[in-house]
Amino acid sequence: MNANADPRSTVATGRPRCWRVERMTDGTVRAGLASLAWRIDEPAPAGEVVIRVEAAGFNYKDALACSGHAGVMRPTTLVPGIDVAGIVERPVDGLAAGTAVVVTGNGMGESRDGGFATHLRTPVAAVIPRPPLLSAVGAMALGTAGLTAVLACDRLAQLVDGRHAKPDEEWLVTGASGGVGMLAVAMLAAKGQRVVACSRKPAAREPLARLGAAEVLPPKAVVDPSSKSLAKGRWAGVVDTVGGGLLADVLRSVRTGGAVTVIGMAGGVDLVTTVHPFILRGVTLAGIDAATQPTQADRAELWMTLARFWPQIAGRFPVTQLGLDDVEGWARRMLAGETIGRGVVVPS
Ligand SMILES: NC(=O)c1ccc[n+]([C@@H]2O[C@H](COP(=O)([O-])OP(=O)(O)OC[C@H]3O[C@@H](n4cnc5c(N)ncnc54)[C@H](OP(=O)(O)O)[C@@H]3O)[C@@H](O)[C@H]2O)c1
Repeated sequence: MNANADPRSTVATGRPRCWRVERMTDGTVRAGLASLAWRIDEPAPAGEVVIRVEAAGFNYKDALACSGHAGVMRPTTLVPGIDVAGIVERPVDGLAAGTAVVVTGNGMGESRDGGFATHLRTPVAAVIPRPPLLSAVGAMALGTAGLTAVLACDRLAQLVDGRHAKPDEEWLVTGASGGVGMLAVAMLAAKGQRVVACSRKPAAREPLARLGAAEVLPPKAVVDPSSKSLAKGRWAGVVDTVGGGLLADVLRSVRTGGAVTVIGMAGGVDLVTTVHPFILRGVTLAGIDAATQPTQADRAELWMTLARFWPQIAGRFPVTQLGLDDVEGWARRMLAGETIGRGVVVPS
């Protein structure tokens, strides 16, 4: 071994390099570059496969794990990263070496080490072959955000009652500059809906317009100024990624037979509302959970849908490529609500 080699380098040690978080007994958090305990060339435990990580998506949940959030990060030491695209390192259980794959969820980055590493061990059952037309970075620009946006848009298509539709009616996406929000704007616009993107960031106006938003408005412009429990019925369907007070306000302005998919909580977890939108307008509030709702077979189908959709937006969707060194800064900016589009970690 070269005496000058960086001991944290994968090549120098034969161990995967990663970005790891440790929650100490006194509640403080230590995080930074590290090497994993296992060697890449040693056999994986039964039922597991070693994947060389080409790219890992950066989700809000990952930003929480990076800060040591106990609700996301179950063990006291963890490599975050709930989305991975990579290459099977050695053949195992019907997976040939060199197969391009994606893995999302399945405890990765929450109860077991995730994708912010050069290599990953994961259960074979969690692995999905990557659709041929999707590059690793393209797949991770979508990742769990993409799966979630498809689930939300499909759910709205089932729930919004077309009998009450008006010409040029509007659909709303909140937290529109985020990963889920931007992809939902693009997907609804591609379905021909007139989409209003709600974002606090003036800098997100142009990319959102390029993805098909008819209008980009700040939160105060999408909320009815009255304090009535029902305001003018403006929105046919809503993808809400913010939660809290904004969701409660938006619910007052959903038209008869409209629906809202609830996805996120960056703006708060409490929901203080009345029964009026539900019993006087038949509004549906539907929860989306990309981690538990889709079966493994559903996920494979969702990835095919994403692979068909990606070429329509690839040149217009903001993707920031990050190294392992950039993880901490991106997580901080994400939790502060300062990022736009998707961050993708390319670990080597
Ligand atoms: N249910 C599920 O299955 C599922 C799956 C994926 C993600 N999620 C959740 O969905 C939300 C969005 O995820 P993401 O990965 O798209 O995150 P993201 O890229 O960080 O987007 C979150 C967006 O929320 C908006 N926001 C509004 N109030 C905020 C506040 N007080 N602090 C920070 N951001 C605020 C910001 O958009 P503007 O600045 O444009 O307003 C921000 O860009 C998160 O809560 C995440 O946990 C849920």
